[in-house]
Amino acid sequence: MQGKGFEPYQGKTYPLDEVEYRSKSFLEFMEKRRTVRDFSDQPVPQSIIRNIIMTASSAPSGAHKQPWVFCAISNTELKSVIRKAAEVEEYQNYHGRMSDEWLDELKQFNTDWNKPFIDIAPWVIVIFRKAYDFENGEKKKNYYVQESVGIATGFLLSAIHQAGLVALTHTPSPMNFLGRILERPENEKPYLLIPVGYPLEQAQVPTLERKKEDEVIIWY
Ligand SMILES: Cc1cc2nc3c(=O)[nH]c(=O)nc-3n(C[C@H](O)[C@H](O)[C@H](O)COP(=O)(O)O)c2cc1C
Repeated sequence: MQGKGFEPYQGKTYPLDEVEYRSKSFLEFMEKRRTVRDFSDQPVPQSIIRNIIMTASSAPSGAHKQPWVFCAISNTELKSVIRKAAEVEEYQNYHGRMSDEWLDELKQFNTDWNKPFIDIAPWVIVIFRKAYDFENGEKKKNYYVQESVGIATGFLLSAIHQAGLVALTHTPSPMNFLGRILERPENEKPYLLIPVGYPLEQAQVPTLERKKEDEVIIWY
């Protein structure tokens, strides 16, 4: 396929001491990101959600296919329909579909089949991955879809944190109900459901320890 040619790279570069400082301060900032499950119902303007989603959509993707769609829902009735459908699936997950080992792992998070945050958070973003696209009515394959959408989700979560809001990465599986409720076409498969908003003032998060450097980095 013929591209659009080339242009000068416009990203900023810095001398090494500044690179050192910037990398450290970003690490310290990102280490404070937490998954929050207690949301405030304080409204968040659409313009902010737009900026966050467009940040996600700036992520790299296989052959630049950007194989994603972000449904941003603030409509109260629609959120309530989604919550009810998610709870139907999650009830079954917590009552037989998840293994005892899995349920045991989840105890530390104090989660159950109730999903009030879908109603309470001012926005719910449902990410869809596009296994293929349509160009002039023809099926066009996308490449490395899971990897690309995973990276875009990482951008999304970082943008939410950078804005000073919180998110919950949620997987009310199986998630096919999301495609039906949001009337998405056959080529779009639900990937994650992410409530976004301000945290409740008294929000609590589970105490977690993250892996140490020597467990996650192997130097050669
Ligand atoms: C793919 C994925 C699915 C997740 N699904 C759920 C979920 O359904 N419900 C939930 O409460 N948390 C869910 N989480 C959040 C994790 O429990 C959380 O990221 C993890 O405990 C680490 O905590 P932290 O995000 O605060 O660092 C999910 C996270 C990921 C990455």
